[in-house]
Amino acid sequence: MNTANNSVPMYNDKVVRQFAVTTVVWGAIGMLVGVIAAAQLAWPELNFGIPWFSYGRLRPLHTNGVIFAFGGSALIGTSLYVVQRTCQARLFGGNGLPAFVFWGWQLALVGAVITLPMGLTSSKEYAELEWPIDILITVVWIAYAIVFFGTIARRKMSHIYVANWFYGAFIIAIALLHVGNNVELPVGWFKSYSAYAGVQDAMVQWWYGHNAVGFLLTAGFLGMMYYFIPKAAQRPIYSYRLSIVHFWALIFTYMWAGPHHLHYTALPDWTQSVGMVFSIILLAPSWGGMINGIMTLSGAWHKLRTDPIIRFMVVSLSFYGMATFEGSLLSIKTMNALSHYTDWTIGHVHSGALGWVGFITMGSLYWLIPRLYGRTSMYSTRAIELHFWISTLGIVLYIASMWIAGVMQGLMWRAVNDDGTLTYAFVEGVKATYPFYVVRLVGGLMYLSGMLIMLWNVIKTMNAGRAPVVSVPPMVAHA
Ligand code: HEM
Ligand code: HEM
Repeated sequence: MNTANNSVPMYNDKVVRQFAVTTVVWGAIGMLVGVIAAAQLAWPELNFGIPWFSYGRLRPLHTNGVIFAFGGSALIGTSLYVVQRTCQARLFGGNGLPAFVFWGWQLALVGAVITLPMGLTSSKEYAELEWPIDILITVVWIAYAIVFFGTIARRKMSHIYVANWFYGAFIIAIALLHVGNNVELPVGWFKSYSAYAGVQDAMVQWWYGHNAVGFLLTAGFLGMMYYFIPKAAQRPIYSYRLSIVHFWALIFTYMWAGPHHLHYTALPDWTQSVGMVFSIILLAPSWGGMINGIMTLSGAWHKLRTDPIIRFMVVSLSFYGMATFEGSLLSIKTMNALSHYTDWTIGHVHSGALGWVGFITMGSLYWLIPRLYGRTSMYSTRAIELHFWISTLGIVLYIASMWIAGVMQGLMWRAVNDDGTLTYAFVEGVKATYPFYVVRLVGGLMYLSGMLIMLWNVIKTMNAGRAPVVSVPPMVAHA
């Protein structure tokens, strides 16, 4: 029975449906802008001399679009689903507060879509939005925290399932980071100056930037992993104890690693070393979590042959392992001397973003969306298969081209002749990179095509299904 009494359904799934669908729509938009940016890097004249279509304005539009619109919506939507099921409680805040979270978040995103192409920016990476939108985000985030933690407070059992710990850490950390990094002095409606100056500003920015990766692109999606992988595999988590160790080790370690973004800068040298050491330690909890996810599939490996949703999830975990291994490697100062400023960083970013974040989201949504629309499966399983293969190939082309380009650039920039002069002019490096930019564009186009196939499949599923909602039993996953 899916009702708490005769009239009120037990769970509020309207807001989950809204976030799930907008995740797919924003994903397609954010990736389309990424593809245009990739094309402009190969052929700069594609900005057509239009200021709002120029690379410098489209790049932050892409990053905000994929991180906050696609990733953020996926996390808010799935967390509001998971917290209800694992607490066996309806969302806190009636219907109004969750609706406010949805519409407020969409308003902030539309604000980004308008202001970033206009060139209105605070110029801090991943925190470009100007102060009125920052304030809106803060208010929406507080409402989201009240809904999420309020639901936990009214749970029907004493235990708090581990996915909620990860989602909860993501919510608290993003609140801290957003407010901490955006302390600024407004000098007009769309112009402000950071309260921090010089090297302190850089340190705060990369404390923010790195932990946005750590808590949004990682901890939040680990929450997703800890609910949806056991569900899809119909197996309990391999080790519940490991998941708790994973949680505490990860959140403690991430906070210290930010200075690896500022190696060889004016930041005190000891700070850079602290950042490097913690980044290397970070490999242990990261791989612990990956192994826990992969081992959850023991006994369900045969499903890989038939179930493309499980395939998305396994590949996402593999990319999580690769990206974190690579990250720890890049944080070593000697490696960073080669990789920094090169496209190797871009390859690292997208192995995490396309492989881990993108695939765990797609797998989870393919599992979730039919259930939200009262169906047993997506409209077309073959379309999921096609999506999987086209996107996997796309990722390989994207990241392999960026790795080769990055190492090549690093080696060309540091090559010196016997007399100490540089062997290559900078422009020679740019010329040598050109073919790799074209390959990356092809990879990006393939990944975007997969997303468009998903959008089509979701629309078909929505139209074929009846809302609402088959009841999904609460999580009972303990090792
Ligand atoms: C169709 C897929 C995508 C394409 C074609 C694409 C393309 C690009 C391009 C061309 C850049 C600029 C690189 C540069 O400045 O040299 C970029 C940056 C970035 N993209 Fe994507 N992207 C895609 C998907 C994604 C997704 C799904 C995410 C996150 C979930 C993401 C996150 C980022 C981030 C964080 C940066 C900034 C990297 C940095 O500053 O080091 N991208 N992307
Ligand atoms: C153990 C985990 C990880 C470590 C130690 C790590 C380390 C690093 C290092 C050293 C850099 C290069 C900094 C520079 O030279 O500028 C970097 C860049 C980056 N990483 Fe990671 N990484 C990890 C995991 C991830 C994951 C899983 C993702 C994505 C989901 C990710 C996203 C990014 C982004 C977006 C940047 C570019 C930041 C910028 O310059 O704009 N990282 N990471």
